[in-house]
Order: sequence, then C-alpha cells, then structure tokens
Amino acid sequence: MIRAVITGSGSALPEQCVTNAEMAKRVDTTDEWIVERTGIRQRYIAGEGETTSSLATEAARKALEDAGVDASEIGLIILATATPDHTFPATATQVQANLGCRGGVAFDVQAVCSGFLYALGTAESLLRTGMAKKALVIGAETFSRILDWEDRTTCVLFGDGAGAVVLEARDVADDGPGILATKLHADGEHKDLLYVDGGPSTTGEVGKLRMKGREVFRHAVVNLADVLKEVLEDAGVDSGDVDWVVPHQANARILDATARKLGLSTDKIVVTVDQHANTSAASVPLAFDVARKDGRIKQGDLVMFEAMGGGFTWGASLARI
Ligand code: ACO
Repeated sequence: MIRAVITGSGSALPEQCVTNAEMAKRVDTTDEWIVERTGIRQRYIAGEGETTSSLATEAARKALEDAGVDASEIGLIILATATPDHTFPATATQVQANLGCRGGVAFDVQAVCSGFLYALGTAESLLRTGMAKKALVIGAETFSRILDWEDRTTCVLFGDGAGAVVLEARDVADDGPGILATKLHADGEHKDLLYVDGGPSTTGEVGKLRMKGREVFRHAVVNLADVLKEVLEDAGVDSGDVDWVVPHQANARILDATARKLGLSTDKIVVTVDQHANTSAASVPLAFDVARKDGRIKQGDLVMFEAMGGGFTWGASLARI
C-alpha cells in the first residue's frame, strides 16, 4: 500500500535566546511564575534579517540533507504559519525559491498552533493521490512580531523557530513505516478566546495576539484527549503501544493533563517547551527533530503528533517512523 513516510527532519532557531530572567526586565513577571505555570525557561526571538521564510528554509535544508533528498526532487511544499513574511505571496513559495526547486506545488496553511498537523494531513493526502512523490512539510513562525510586549499574560509564552520533515510516497507493507491515521477538527465558535486583533481585511494592520489563557487551557485538554482517542481507534492501536507522543508545546501542564487523561506515561512525551516556549506551528516538528536527533525517536517507533490552537483548530496524527 502507498503511504506517506517521514524520511528526514530538520529545525532552526533564531540566534538570540531570551531567558525568563531577561523577560522579567521587560514586563512585570518572574522566572518562578513562568516556570510554575508553563514549564517555559527560555525562548528564541528572531532578530533583524531573521524571518519566517529564513528559518523555514534553514529547517527545510537540514531535513532534505537528513533524508538524502535533493531539493530538485521536491514536488510539494506545504508551510504552516500564522506569521507569514508577507500577506501574499505564500511564504512556501519564498522557501521554494530559496531552495531552488521551481515548478512544483507550494502553499501556506493557516491553522495557528495546529498548522503542522493540518499541513501533514494535507501533504499525506496529496502524496497518496499521486500529486507529488516527495514533499516538504514545514512549520515556521516569528510569533514575537505579533506579540504585545506590554502584555505579560501573553508575551512570556511564545517564541520563534521552524521545523520541517520530508515526506515520501512509498509502497510499504502493512506493518511498514508511514502515516497510519490523521484526524483534524475546527470549531469557529471560540474565536474570541485566542485571536489576533488585526488583519488585511479588517484593520489593515497586522495586529497583536490576544488570549484568554485559562479558557484555552480548559478546551485544549478536552479536545486533545478526544482527538487522540479518535486516532488510536482509527489506527486500531492501543495507547500503550505508542512509543512517543510529540505534542504541541504550549504548556507543560497541558501535556501532563492530557497524558493523565489517556493513561499515557509522561516519560513517553517529548517536552521542549522549557527550551523553545510556544512556537505555534513550528513546535511539533521542532520537538520531533530534537527527539530524533538526540536518539530518543528511532526507526520503527510509533509516534503520535498532536496540537491545538487558535480557531479553535486541533488534530492528531499517528505515524510509524
Ligand atoms: N507573570 C506574573 N503574573 C502573571 C503573568 C506573568 N507573566 N501573567 C498573568 N499573571 C497573573 C494574572 O494577572 C493573575 O493574577 P490575579 O490572580 O491577581 O488576577 C494570575 O497570574 C493568574 O492568571 P491566570 O491567567 O489565571 O493564570 P493561569 O494559571 O491560567 O496560567 C496560562 C496562564 C499560562 C496562560 C495558562 O492559562 C495557559 O497555558 N493556557 C493555555 C494557553 C495555550 O495552550 N495556548 C495554546 C494555543 S496558543 C495558539 O494557538 C497561538
């Protein structure tokens, strides 16, 4: 059967690392408050010349090298971001130009923190229909540029970065590698809990991120537990068979609460929120790359990806590596 198989990964971070102690010099906060409520210890913030497309290109180049794939072989680029370089064209086309692989399909996906899951699901479908043979799926963000740096309830939570995977359509055996099941959802009723207060068609300005954190937290735990169950059922897999969960890195307490709800051991969860904070669409592929490169995630492992974000949007995907 034809499956979309993850054959490489890569990630990129801005040069500048900002610790909680440094954040405490900008807004009325403390390292203790941030660590206790979120698990975040530091984040990376894009500097001059660092953009969503530059971070995405670096992550993509590393993923291609890891997969042993030449950029010219890539027929599809899907880039998940809520912080594109420009309103248009799609940042994916800029990455395509940077990589020098012209003529294939390239577009952006906007599902905020769930963006990588939406991009992965879309790429998987397109590969299985034969639209392309090899794809780059990227999550990249410069959230620092849409933060209200005077609002301590949001600005301490986010960071910038990018992660990418190479997906290849392969004819594999039933127990072989590839994406086994994906479920995606959205519920537009809750826009006011997490949104950006601007945009080209409303204010004509980019706007700033606004979030009612406590309510988002409540929805996140319920929605994530539900979609994880759905994916496990669809794939016919028991939660105990999952080797690693690579979740969206918003808050260490959400990760723990979701794991508890599903009876998953917390040492199966890849946690990078302490290092990167919430990098929105970049967080899942960034965490995946970290855990692959440090040897935790190995070939043959069953890995669950999951995320929840603005919209609300949420989703999960199970893959054998
Ligand atoms: N430093 C110190 N104190 C602070 C800070 C800060 N940075 N921020 C808020 N506080 C204060 C508040 O003012 C409040 O004080 P008060 O009780 O005197 O009014 C107190 O801390 C508690 O505030 P809460 O917002 O109730 O704190 P909570 O425990 O809910 O933690 C947090 C807030 C970390 C935002 C949490 O709710 C959370 O993680 N929510 C989920 C966010 C999320 O998952 N987002 C995912 C999607 S993101 C995306 O899609 C872009």
